[in-house]
Amino acid sequence: MSKIINNEEKKALKKLKELSKKIKYHNDLYHAKDSPEINDKKYDDLIKENNLLEKKFPHLILKNSPNKIIGSKPLQKFKKSKHILPMLSLQNAFSEDDIMEFVQRIEKFLNLKYLDIEFISEPKIDGLSINLFYYKGELEIARTRGDGYEGEDVTKNILTINDIPKKLKNNNIPKEVEIRGEIFLNKHDFIKLNDKLNEKEKFSNPRNAAAGSLRQLDPEITRKRPLKFIAHGLGKNSNKYIKLSDYYSDLKLWGIPINKLFKISYSINEMIDYFNKINNERNNILYDIDGIVYKLNDLNFQNRLGFVGKNPRWAIALKFSSEKSITKITKINYQVGKTGAITPVARLNPVNIGGVIVSNATLHNFDEINKKDIREEDIVEIQRAGDVIPQIIKVLKKGNPRKEKISIPIKCPSCGSKTFKDPDEAVVRCNNEFNCKDQLIGKLEHFISKKAMNIEGFGKKQVKLFWDLNIIKNYVDIYKIQNHKNKIINMEGWGETSYNNLIQSCKKSKKVSFEKFIFSLSIRHVGETISKILAKEFIKPKNLTNNNLEVFLSNIDGIGPKVLNSINKYFKNYENIKIIEQLEDILEIDEFKKIITKSIFNNKNIVFTGKLITLSRDEAKQKAQKLGAKILSSVSKNTDFLIYGENPGSKFKAAKDLNINMINEKEWIKKIS
Ligand code: IVH
Repeated sequence: MSKIINNEEKKALKKLKELSKKIKYHNDLYHAKDSPEINDKKYDDLIKENNLLEKKFPHLILKNSPNKIIGSKPLQKFKKSKHILPMLSLQNAFSEDDIMEFVQRIEKFLNLKYLDIEFISEPKIDGLSINLFYYKGELEIARTRGDGYEGEDVTKNILTINDIPKKLKNNNIPKEVEIRGEIFLNKHDFIKLNDKLNEKEKFSNPRNAAAGSLRQLDPEITRKRPLKFIAHGLGKNSNKYIKLSDYYSDLKLWGIPINKLFKISYSINEMIDYFNKINNERNNILYDIDGIVYKLNDLNFQNRLGFVGKNPRWAIALKFSSEKSITKITKINYQVGKTGAITPVARLNPVNIGGVIVSNATLHNFDEINKKDIREEDIVEIQRAGDVIPQIIKVLKKGNPRKEKISIPIKCPSCGSKTFKDPDEAVVRCNNEFNCKDQLIGKLEHFISKKAMNIEGFGKKQVKLFWDLNIIKNYVDIYKIQNHKNKIINMEGWGETSYNNLIQSCKKSKKVSFEKFIFSLSIRHVGETISKILAKEFIKPKNLTNNNLEVFLSNIDGIGPKVLNSINKYFKNYENIKIIEQLEDILEIDEFKKIITKSIFNNKNIVFTGKLITLSRDEAKQKAQKLGAKILSSVSKNTDFLIYGENPGSKFKAAKDLNINMINEKEWIKKIS
C-alpha cells in the first residue's frame, strides 16, 4: 500500500476498515447464522459505500476487502417474490382438550351436529417452509415463506436438492400448482456439517443449519449440504381435488416426497393415539419434529372454513411437551408492557435448555406466583417449547433462608402511578395509560416493529437509546431524527452510514396501509383483526379523528363494549389526536380499499337474526363479507337487508317497522349461490 499523503486518504482508510469489519459481521449473520440484524437495503448500502471508496482510492484497498472474502459472495441478495396464495401458519394445541375444542369449533362453523372425522395426521417437521411453483409440470420458481405473502426467490438453490424434481412425472399434472413443504436436515447430517465448520460458523440446531444452507448465494454450497424435502401442503392449483389425500397420492406419482408416517385418523381417539405413538418413536425419527399436524381431509370443508387471522380453521398443530431444566431464581423484577400490564419476570442462573441459553422466565401474573409460591433464591423447574417464552413449572427447593413473598405492586414500578386490577383479568396494570415511561417505550417499540410500521433495522435497543437522549419521545419524533444528525453520527458505534440507513428506513416506512397504521398505535384491545375492521369502517385517518366514534362504532359486528370503551378512551385523549393528526401529514397512509363485487349485497349493511339452519352464523357472515357486505349488530334506518332464520326476535319487528328489505335464509342462499 502506498504511503498515506493527506487527510482525505486517512479518513478514507479509516472508513474502509470500518466497512470491512461491518460487512464481514453482517455477512456472517446472514449466511452462516441465518439471523440478519439489518435489512438488505442497508447491507447493499454498506457494499456501495465500500465500492465507491475502493474505486476512488484503489491504492487503499485492504487485504481483507469485502470484495476479497473467499467462500461467500456478499455482493448480492435474493430477490423478493410474491406467493400466488398466501402461506399461512398453524394454531398450536397442547392437550387432548384443545383438539376436542378444535373439532367442536369446526362443527359449529359448518353447522354440523357431528363432524365425520377424517383428518390427515402427520409429524410437524422443524424445518423451513418452501413454496414450489410448477407450471405445466416444470419447476418455475421456489420461494421461502417470508412474511407469508412474499418470500425470497431461492430457485437456483432448490434445484440442487435431490428430493425436488425439476419436472413432475406421470399424469394428471396440473397447469399450475403451488406445492408447499418443509426443507430440513437430518439430525446426523447436522452433526456432521457442524463438525466441519469452525467454531464461529457452527449452527445452533438443524433448523438454522437448513435455513443457512439453503440461503447461500452460491448454489454450489447448497448442493454440498444434504438438504431434504417433504411436501405437506397445497397453494394455488388447477386440478380439482376432493380430498387432500388425493393430492398426496398425486404428489407420490409426480415424484414429490410425502411423509411416510402420514395416516388418516377417523376419530379423536385415533388422532391422540397417533400423537402418542409418534412421540414415543421421536428419537428414532431421522429429523427433528416438534408435534403433530392434523388437517381436515375434505377440501370443500377446508374451503368453507377459511381462516382466522393467519391460521386456517381446518388445521392445528398438537405440540410435544417441552424440554425442561432446573435452575435458581436470582431476582424477581417487574416489567411494564405497552398497555400497562405489569408482569413479574424471574431472572435465572443461565441454563442450557435444548441448545438455547435461558436466563429469564415470565411469571405471567401475581395469581400464578402466589399459587406456585415462587420466591427469589428458590430452585425451580423451568420449561421452554419452541419460540415460547420460558416458564416456571414449580418450585423444587425453597431458598434457605426463605425470601419474602412477592407482593403485588401498589404503584407502577416505572412511573409510580397507582395500579389497578380489572375484576375479569388476572393482570395488574398501571393506570397512567398515556404517560407512563415504560408504556410509552413499549408503544414506540411496537410502532417500529415488523407487523406495525416495519421500520427496518430500528430495534428496541435504539428506541431506548433515543429515548434516553431525548431524541424520540413519541411517534412523530421518529420522523424528525434528522434534526439530531450531529448528535447521532458522533455517538459510539454510529456514523454517517448507520445514520443514513436509519433515515432511509424511516422514509420507506412512511407508505403504510390504513389498517397497519391503526394497529401501530397500540390502542388497548385493538389487534390486527380489530384494526382491519376499523380501517374498513373509517376508510381514511381523517375520519378517525372527526367522528363521533361511540355512536358510529356501537353497531359494528366484531366490536364489543370492552373494545369500544378502550377506543373511546384513546380518542378522547387530546395528545393522541394531536399525534395522529401530525402523523397524517408526515405519512402516506393508503385508504382502505373495499372489495367491490357484482353481488347485490356489495357495500350493503346487513343484519342477521334468528337461528340459521343451513349455515352457522359465522359462516354466513364470512360469506356476506366476501360479497362486500358490512355486517351490523342491530337494526337501524341504515340497514339495507335483514336476513332472518328461525324464531327471529325483536330485530325482525324493528326491521318490519322501518320497512327494511327482509329475506329469509332460503331466499338468501339462493341469491348468493
Ligand atoms: S400444514 C396452513 N404440515 O409448520 C398451513 N405444516 O407452524 C398448513 N410444518 O409454516 C401447514 N410440518 O411450514 C403442515 N406436516 C406439516 C408441517 C407443517 C411443518 C410447518 C409449516 C408451517 C408451520 C406452521
